Amino acid sequence: MTPPVLQARYGAQAPAVSLPHLPALDAMLHHRTVRHFLGDALPEHTIETLVAAAQSAPTSSNLQTWSVIAVESQARRDQLAQLVGQQKHLSAAPLVLVWLADLSRIERLGQAQGRDPAGLHYLDTFLMAVIDATLAAQNAVVAAEAMGLGTCYIGGMRNQPEQVAQVLGTPRQVFPVFGLVVGHPDPARPAAIKPRLPQSAVLHREQYHVPATAQEEIGDYNAALAAFMRAQGMPEVDWSTQVVDRLMTPESLSGRHRLYEALRNAGFGYTDIDG
Ligand SMILES: Cc1cc2nc3c(=O)[nH]c(=O)nc-3n(C[C@H](O)[C@H](O)[C@H](O)COP(=O)(O)O)c2cc1C
Repeated sequence: MTPPVLQARYGAQAPAVSLPHLPALDAMLHHRTVRHFLGDALPEHTIETLVAAAQSAPTSSNLQTWSVIAVESQARRDQLAQLVGQQKHLSAAPLVLVWLADLSRIERLGQAQGRDPAGLHYLDTFLMAVIDATLAAQNAVVAAEAMGLGTCYIGGMRNQPEQVAQVLGTPRQVFPVFGLVVGHPDPARPAAIKPRLPQSAVLHREQYHVPATAQEEIGDYNAALAAFMRAQGMPEVDWSTQVVDRLMTPESLSGRHRLYEALRNAGFGYTDIDG
């Protein structure tokens, strides 16, 4: 029998497999983003616990090219809430963690040694820092959820990155990749497990298989997500239309089409792109 958590994740297209009974796996499979929080304080040492989980993630060449800013001040969270597109959960929850791609530490270490590492100025190095920050953040998410807390990533942090940098006082060679709201979920507004594409859409075996039709591409996912939205009392969307709409024009990127310019303003520059 298909485990109920897989039915929640995949609907009728859930793989008919049994799962090992492991608390860590169970926690990951039950993930849901929380957007309604109580204002209650977090348990003691939550920040240090989450950062220890984050720093336990793998990191490219052990370079550790990320940092995180823990924002607890109400005034600063309110400012950030405005900058990321009026997202109220930043003001409501007690903690916002802003995850940074941070090449400034290595730049400073190089300066202290009288050296300027040319490798800082290649796109792959920035990508590496973003990957490191992302792996670290997701470890913190898994830890927070295991502690009974709720989280919400905030990609909107890149809508106006220069203004976010000003609020956070970040130096050159530091870029906010995303925020993460952390708090106690409001039990009156529980979040549900959101369905995902069938595994056949994302899992290729040995080589990439290009589907011939939209039906082969995503199966019945549009219907599964529409049913989920209906059950949540949210407006139904046609997912395959929505994802194309979301990327239809530069304006639909909510300011993020300026990424390259914003990176240059933050002191990044790429020898392999700019020459
Ligand atoms: C990098 C990233 C950025 C996100 N940014 C936002 C955001 O700005 N606001 C928001 O409400 N949710 C945000 N989300 C949450 C996604 O909307 C959510 O993960 C997705 O709809 C799937 O739902 P689930 O996490 O409940 O399974 C973000 C998620 C990721 C991974």
